Amino acid sequence: MSEQKLRSQQWFGKTGKDGFIYRAWMKNQGIPDDYFQGKPVIGICNTWSELTPCNAHFRELAEFVKKGVIEAGGFPVEFPVMSLGETLIKPTAMLYRNLASMDVEESIRANPIDGVVLMCGCDKTTPSLVMGACSVDLPSLVISGGPMMKGKFKGKEIGTSDVWRFAEAYKLGELSQAEFIEAEACMARTPGHCAVMGTASTMATMVEALGLSLPQNAAIPAADVRRKVLAQQSGRRIVEMVKEDLKLSKVLNRQAFENAIRVNAATGGSTNFVIHLLAIAGRIGVELDLDDFDKFSKQVPLLANIQPSGVHFMEDLYYAGGLPALMNQMKEFLHTDIITVNGKTVGENIANTPIYDSNIISTLETAFKPDSGIAVVKGNLAPNGAVVKPSAASPELFKHRGKAVVFENIEDYHARVDDPNLDIDETSVMVLKNVGPKGYPGMAEVGNMGIPKKLLEKGVKDMVRISDGRMSGTGFGTVVLHVSPESAAGGPLNWVQNGDYISLDLDNRSIHWEVSDEELEARKLAQPFQAQAHIRGYVGLFIDRVSQAHEGADFDFLKGGSGSVVTRDSH
Ligand code: FES
Repeated sequence: MSEQKLRSQQWFGKTGKDGFIYRAWMKNQGIPDDYFQGKPVIGICNTWSELTPCNAHFRELAEFVKKGVIEAGGFPVEFPVMSLGETLIKPTAMLYRNLASMDVEESIRANPIDGVVLMCGCDKTTPSLVMGACSVDLPSLVISGGPMMKGKFKGKEIGTSDVWRFAEAYKLGELSQAEFIEAEACMARTPGHCAVMGTASTMATMVEALGLSLPQNAAIPAADVRRKVLAQQSGRRIVEMVKEDLKLSKVLNRQAFENAIRVNAATGGSTNFVIHLLAIAGRIGVELDLDDFDKFSKQVPLLANIQPSGVHFMEDLYYAGGLPALMNQMKEFLHTDIITVNGKTVGENIANTPIYDSNIISTLETAFKPDSGIAVVKGNLAPNGAVVKPSAASPELFKHRGKAVVFENIEDYHARVDDPNLDIDETSVMVLKNVGPKGYPGMAEVGNMGIPKKLLEKGVKDMVRISDGRMSGTGFGTVVLHVSPESAAGGPLNWVQNGDYISLDLDNRSIHWEVSDEELEARKLAQPFQAQAHIRGYVGLFIDRVSQAHEGADFDFLKGGSGSVVTRDSH
């Protein structure tokens, strides 16, 4: 690409007053004049924040990206965007994914940027950055922050999935308060995001499978110096991508999305993958729907023995050969001739990548589980679908009929779940309403609601649970999630009552609520649906404009993109 064609030259290449203003204030950072004369300007979109502990090492990592950009002849400019820390943000980080994506989109478009490195880590920081970048469609690549090293507690290896186990043990008095506190520091002992195949690792895996990162991005631990090397190489590569005009839309085609769905199945990725991939597809203009997740997951077995579907951790995946080695084992399921951000095809990136530990990565013949990926169930309770993660569910509950025990909202659940008089047993189906995109609002990760204490004491480990909410990628259980339409949008879930029978049949992909049309109409008459009252500010905007789960829960007005052209000067 000639220097004149660089987008940044519409700022820095100007003569007269405009050019003076665009350059002069930048020079107060000690930037030599030749940096403004045709070097590709690389935006480093950083989600560093001490309130996002999973991304707290990103300032240092960004320095390695910069080093690479400068080595390749580029001009790096780091800028902050809204950072979404999964553990601290109330009511749920998902409420702000779309807002952060708007910050990313507008920050990129409004500034003299030719290419972007997206620094992603904790769960929502990946989809928000990728969604925003897609709507601008410049050459862009992702460097993820990497997973934590696995935790060690009382001689055992632990990770985020143990939070749920510890919580149950604590509830039962098997773990003291002091042990509980000690486990906190034992689990989160290094920089990085969750060490299991939770949502953050699922997202890092997703970007590598989509071809949006350099190979091995998914699993190199944050604390491993090879993560820094990858960041430096990413900095070098983005400069080349600008010269090649390798935009996001050239990488993100329909085949790339199909690859990502299949790799997600093989790695036992989070159900949150569904929501985020649908939203990303909507931004880049690729047709994708909920049924595609079931269709392209089918027949792909579980090849990664990583928690919560397996027993090991992300760093083990890296030592065993990493995602390229896993993808190599399943190449017959993949489109191998499509381009990725390093300029090579998927097939070239995964060639000659052996497995070093067959306890962590299996072949197709020796798969860890036959049922993997995302199962999409439909029926009169979820006309637009709901999702289940079979690899994290109990096979004996794949087909189950039980009486509903209904919680009207999360407060109702907390107030009554441990009531010894609650009419519930292990055959019951727990139903939680009003935790969907509009209802919570923000679609909280509460769908894998904890089992009542009295059943835990009986040794019950899993039950069928149904909601319009999400589940943490680190969670597990026979949990039906993302019921669409949600109860707060007037979906059928709104009228489920205690004692109704519900049947789940995973093999037939159905969820059936045994209530007649007449009975449903009578219930609707007796209790008419009432939409939420208008709320001011961002939350009001969110409730008004968020789409349903089966559409990716993006704002309706953010679908597609506006490109990178800005026609007016600022002075
Ligand atoms: Fe940040 Fe799990 S809390 S990745």
